[in-house]
Amino acid sequence: MKLQLESIRNAAKDLLEKVSSKQELEAVRIKFLGKKGELTLILRQMGSLHPEERPKMGSLANEVREYIEAIIEKKTEEIEASERESRIKAETIDVTVPGILHPLGHRHPLSIVLDEVKEIFLGMGFKIATGPEIEWDYYNFEALNIPKNHPARDTQDTFYITDNMLLRTQTSPVQIRVMEHSQPPIRIIAPGRVYRSDAIDATHSPLFHQIEGLVVDKGVTMGDLKGILMQFAQRMYGDNTKIRLRPHHFPFTEPSCEMDVSCFRCGGAGCPMCKNEGWIEILGAGMVHPKVLENGGINPDIYSGYAFGVGLERLTLFKYSIDDMRLFFENDLKFLTQF
Ligand code: DAH
Repeated sequence: MKLQLESIRNAAKDLLEKVSSKQELEAVRIKFLGKKGELTLILRQMGSLHPEERPKMGSLANEVREYIEAIIEKKTEEIEASERESRIKAETIDVTVPGILHPLGHRHPLSIVLDEVKEIFLGMGFKIATGPEIEWDYYNFEALNIPKNHPARDTQDTFYITDNMLLRTQTSPVQIRVMEHSQPPIRIIAPGRVYRSDAIDATHSPLFHQIEGLVVDKGVTMGDLKGILMQFAQRMYGDNTKIRLRPHHFPFTEPSCEMDVSCFRCGGAGCPMCKNEGWIEILGAGMVHPKVLENGGINPDIYSGYAFGVGLERLTLFKYSIDDMRLFFENDLKFLTQF
């Protein structure tokens, strides 16, 4: 038995020297000290020894066990230390490595200008209203006092879906929808997409954007309209901007006008931007026609209102001196990243 114990000690020592992981270490422990381990089996045989031999063999067996346990403990520490070290090495962060640049998007020029317009009107107490892009003929034309034989109804201008359903050609139908659902005082702007059956060129696109404005209340006059539009023009194009209202015709306003702003490039002296006129036309406006108020369920004997419609593309072209509307829709980053 003494020889057996000694050979166990030597075998354990040899094996433990080669161990390099915790799993291997555990395997060696089980091989010798486990429930069915070699040393355990020997200890079980103690009973069969001569009584005189037992204490001697007992203490030798204990020595061997302690010896093996001590090596295992030492090895455990070594392995843990080296594992820790390699983990730290693997996790090291090199703070000198250059960062990864994540490309950041930003707003489209049309959105930048639209946000500016909203900001200006929200600041003057207007609310934002919306309406559908697929619209009934009734809202887009009929209710806006545009008679059946009006040239705007020609299929050359309008995308019809059915005889009485179409892609709205203007944001003006939102006027009717808002009046139907609310009572004065009304003060809204309605930005949105509109569609016309136009061929694409530098100044035309089958899809573009308008911003409609509508104010209805008691005693609203053309003077109020002019004041609001003046504010708008100056906030948009600078404090020195002058405005000029020219008589015009729209079926849904009476009287109607177009508004020009003094050219912000040349200040009115004349330049290529304003085609030497000193003025640039930016919107249509007028006092809401009594029939239109009626169609919206509002009594024109008690209330009056004004309305205006601005083209967002035009505003933006002038704001940034862009000469081709197609650039807005081509998604060319070389263009878009300039704003
Ligand atoms: N809807 C008109 C257009 O598309 C623009 C317009 C003019 C709107 C005068 C208005 C207005 O509300 O009063 O040309």
